[in-house]
Amino acid sequence: MGLWNGFEKIVRQDEPLAMHTWFQLGGPAEYFAEPANPDELIALVRRCHEEGVPMRVLGRGSNILVRDEGVPGMVIRLSAPAFCGIEVHKDMMAAGGGAKLGRIVTTAVHEGLAGLEALVAIPGTLGGALHGNAGTHGSDIGQWTTRVAVVTRTGEVLERPREDLEFAYRESSLDEPVILNAQLELERDDPRELTRRLQKQWIVRKASQPMGHQCAGCVFKNPRGVSAGDLIERAGLKGTRIGGAVVSDRHANFIIAEPEASSQDVLRLIDLVRSQVHERLGIELELELEIW
Ligand code: EPU
Repeated sequence: MGLWNGFEKIVRQDEPLAMHTWFQLGGPAEYFAEPANPDELIALVRRCHEEGVPMRVLGRGSNILVRDEGVPGMVIRLSAPAFCGIEVHKDMMAAGGGAKLGRIVTTAVHEGLAGLEALVAIPGTLGGALHGNAGTHGSDIGQWTTRVAVVTRTGEVLERPREDLEFAYRESSLDEPVILNAQLELERDDPRELTRRLQKQWIVRKASQPMGHQCAGCVFKNPRGVSAGDLIERAGLKGTRIGGAVVSDRHANFIIAEPEASSQDVLRLIDLVRSQVHERLGIELELELEIW
């Protein structure tokens, strides 16, 4: 097979993706690779383009559900240290697309840089967070972002300055397949005060969301600022089950996958919740979770 000539050491075939996702569900990726550095990544993206192989980047798998039949084409993970660095210079932070958002938040607080505390306990990578503009009430990653380097489908590296970036509720204009790194501009504050805010946020989040379960983040977006969790609860759907998939009793916008669950169970439960909320409350829910 000449398809991956020169990439034999990094490309794996039929890699199970369940172990790379928070739901721990779903089938394999046809091809899977963890390049060691940007040059190798760019060469691989170019090869995928030349060969007409569809390609996508997997972050930490906390906002996706992989279908039971798996994913055709190439799945790339930016797990190598070259993609996960975090650097602070004055009020600026530069980090790789593969860096964990949680580490970015705690590094900022430790360095006395304010802005990101509200994002504590959001899982995933910086790349994933930017792609979907991760955030909480009134705060998101996009508002602090001043520059993003991306790799296009054809393998070209582009620097996108702030003027060229648009962020909205759980949405960004970053539609290139790879987010290589980004720069955030934060504000100075007292690290002790920031630590207190971080701890407070952490306690609130822990009390309101299921943690330590097999689940991803919120399944649906909040329609026009109304909490989807509140709507699902009002529709009487907490605890609703299909197979091994259950609507969380703690926060109704989370679906818990029990060990025997399949992706199909989760997908069927999503459809059920959507149709019941529409029927009972007249509101259309839109997915925040990505289905692969
Ligand atoms: N609520 C209910 N029942 C529920 C869930 C929530 O009545 O089952 C009520 C709560 O009591 C509260 C209101 O709804 O009065 C808002 O709840 P919460 O503070 O949990 O916020 P949310 O709007 O449900 C959003 C984000 C979360 C983020 C929290 C942080 C979305 C879809 N969700 O949730 O983000 O962590 O704010 O406050 O934007 C995610 O995006 O994956 C995610 C988890």
